[in-house]
Amino acid sequence: MNVIKAINKRQSIRAYQQKEVEPEKLEAILSAANRAPSAGNLQAYQIYVIRKEEMKQKLAEAAAGQNFLAQAPVVLVFCSVPERSKEKYGEKSVVYAMQDACAAVCNVMLAAVELGLGTCWVDAVIETLAAKAINAKNGHIPEVILPIGYPAEKPPYTTRRELSDIVTEV
Ligand SMILES: Cc1cc2nc3c(=O)[nH]c(=O)nc-3n(C[C@H](O)[C@H](O)[C@H](O)COP(=O)(O)O)c2cc1C
Repeated sequence: MNVIKAINKRQSIRAYQQKEVEPEKLEAILSAANRAPSAGNLQAYQIYVIRKEEMKQKLAEAAAGQNFLAQAPVVLVFCSVPERSKEKYGEKSVVYAMQDACAAVCNVMLAAVELGLGTCWVDAVIETLAAKAINAKNGHIPEVILPIGYPAEKPPYTTRRELSDIVTEV
């Protein structure tokens, strides 16, 4: 599958089969994250791989009760780690670390499509609760919760704005 096809095929999946994600697929997905761009190539993020039911339930609570995420066999939590780029970027490291984490999320979502897996970007609504749920290290701030699994639904594609609404030619 080429990248454009994967981009067009991706959609948020909020129901998952109770089928494990093969370790080699998970490794390919994590390697895709590792190839994402980052400010100063400092990779100021940490990915927590969550499989324990209890942790997934607590993450769902931290995400304002979005219980569907706990159904997924694997849940990745992308944390920003501003400390890692603070020396180089000072206060800006907070934003850069978030952007680094989000760039990794996008790579993962597309790699998952290629491998027949579904994902959904879920906001870590109460980040302190999410951090507690996964025993995050100090300074690791949960930004995105990403359930991954084989889709158990095929929702209609969502619409988008016209290109002319989001693009400005100058
Ligand atoms: C920053 C951000 C936060 C999001 N938060 C949630 C969320 O908490 N729960 C959820 O189900 N989807 C969430 N989404 C997914 C969007 O709802 C979804 O991407 C959008 O409706 C477009 O649909 P599509 O992904 O199927 O193309 C989020 C997406 C982004 C980028």
